[in-house]
Amino acid sequence: MVVSIASDHAGYELRQKVIKHLEAKGFTVLDGGAPNGTDSYSYVDAGIKVADDVTSGKADRGIAICGTGIGISLVCNKYKGIRCALCANEFMAKMSRQHNDANILAFGERVVGLGVALGMVDAFFEEEFAGGRHAVRVDGIREVENRHFQ
Ligand code: RB5
Repeated sequence: MVVSIASDHAGYELRQKVIKHLEAKGFTVLDGGAPNGTDSYSYVDAGIKVADDVTSGKADRGIAICGTGIGISLVCNKYKGIRCALCANEFMAKMSRQHNDANILAFGERVVGLGVALGMVDAFFEEEFAGGRHAVRVDGIREVENRHFQ
């Protein structure tokens, strides 16, 4: 599986650790966003990188990190077809896959520690979409997109 990951400066340190974790598990990682943790880098540009990779098919799924996870998740969710889940614990990450078929996981380096972050990453890639009644709701999200996107 190919995973696109990007962060702004506030998510840089955690991004490096998540990349190592993903590569150790055999994922192909497309890395983007802030080149370091010191120079200011907009979460808008980082979100665009991840959402572009997922919507174009270059990546199967994405991980988006900023200080809180809020700004970057807002950007990703402006894309048609993106279901970016801002999560703060493993349960949320698990449910984002099972119930929402999320294709981008977002979180904040200033919010979660490394253990929680890696637990969420693992849950996000281990859990499958449950389908059934949840598929009807995800279809409903697509209908909303079709009404509001050009
Ligand atoms: C950067 O200071 C911070 O605003 C950003 O990382 C994020 O938390 C915004 O939502």
